[in-house]
Amino acid sequence: MAKLVITGGRKLSGEVKVQGSKNSSLPILAATILCEDESVLYNCPDLKDVDATVKILRYLGCKASRHDTTLVVDTSTMTRSDIPHDLMREMRSSIIFLGAITARCGKAKMSLPGGCELGPRPIDLHLSALRQMGIEINEQHGELECVAVDGIKPSKIALSFPSVGATENIMLTAVKASGTTIITNAAKEPEIVDLADYLNACGAKISGAGESTIIIEGVDKLHGCNHSIIADRIVAATLMSAAAATSSKITLDGVVYSHLSMITPIFEQAGCEITQKMGKLTLDAPYRLRSPKLIRTMPYPGFPTDAQAPVMAMTCKTNGLTVFVENIFESRYKHVDELNRLGANIKVEGKVALVDGVRHLSGASVRALDLRGAAALVVAALSANGHTQVCGIKYLERGYDEFEVVLQSLGADIKKI
Ligand code: EPZ
Repeated sequence: MAKLVITGGRKLSGEVKVQGSKNSSLPILAATILCEDESVLYNCPDLKDVDATVKILRYLGCKASRHDTTLVVDTSTMTRSDIPHDLMREMRSSIIFLGAITARCGKAKMSLPGGCELGPRPIDLHLSALRQMGIEINEQHGELECVAVDGIKPSKIALSFPSVGATENIMLTAVKASGTTIITNAAKEPEIVDLADYLNACGAKISGAGESTIIIEGVDKLHGCNHSIIADRIVAATLMSAAAATSSKITLDGVVYSHLSMITPIFEQAGCEITQKMGKLTLDAPYRLRSPKLIRTMPYPGFPTDAQAPVMAMTCKTNGLTVFVENIFESRYKHVDELNRLGANIKVEGKVALVDGVRHLSGASVRALDLRGAAALVVAALSANGHTQVCGIKYLERGYDEFEVVLQSLGADIKKI
């Protein structure tokens, strides 16, 4: 089992390019199914979750080939409309294929996505929206069987929660509906905008992405296109956390500054100086961070739940108490026990975590239990005195492209064994 060995206490320095967004790549890969054509995706990160999505595309009969961070996908040869259990279990966000396969083939079959490390991952909002669009869905024996009896019905869909996945599934289903679909209380994440940009470049007619109301005018046919995936704002936040936690100055290239609008203020409250010019963000951290006081996760443009764990790692040695409130997922504090093994002083009360800053962290053997928790342990290990071993890095590799290489290029003493 691979693990990372980190010798902390060293400053980072230099400049790195931030990888393409995992959470943009996955829905856009599902969207290629709607084109029956070839698309070229640039800046597509090399991740386990992207591999799992490509595996599904190939199972469906599509062609996909990677050339460094460019992925060429041809879905004209698609022959199947089902996703087998083992491929669904590999990644629960594969539910994003449901709308796209149904819209392309008139039917879809896949097993219910299991829960994941973050707790139950219900899909009620996805299913009720697709049913509203005229798709018959049978759930039995853990399988979902969908049939669009007579095409996709344009609908007015009000989401009770601005679910990212449900918004994406509705968009992917509605692009070929026989009329106009309106989504209210839609998710506003930048990944939704990136998906809409890709689909519009393929000939779709989507407006309002990034706002609460998205309007999708159905079209008959979509063609492929060339598209560059946006930078991964959560990887950017993770690298900022690593720099802040080690009192370093680093520059991130390729970030979209506006996507970090609720993240940069937290680092500034902690005493970091952040400047930006020409798509580059420079963070200059003080010797000792102040506590940013209160961090509550909210749907975009609020503070992103995916940044909660890495930023928590950064607050472990601040001068003061930081209160986290995790409003999006019900069990997203699995990294707390492991951070405490490194000498942090964190207490969890339900969805609240209290981080009482300590002077020092010290290396230990810790285990990652989910994707962003793994990133948090790496951030904390970089700021701890001595050696840390991080096991369970298969979680890290789901969302971070060669993270140890990126950190080595910034001067970190980190190696994968
Ligand atoms: C996406 O997951 C991201 N994944 C997650 O990133 C991210 O944390 C999340 O959005 C929130 O920003 C991808 O984009 C692949 P949601 P998703 O639907 O779509 C509840 C990472 O670390 N809900 O917005 O699953 C759900 O249980 C991953 O990169 C329902 O109740 O998120 C959760 O509590 C983790 N019913 C909340 O909404 C539904 O039908 C947010 O879920 C759907 C969701």
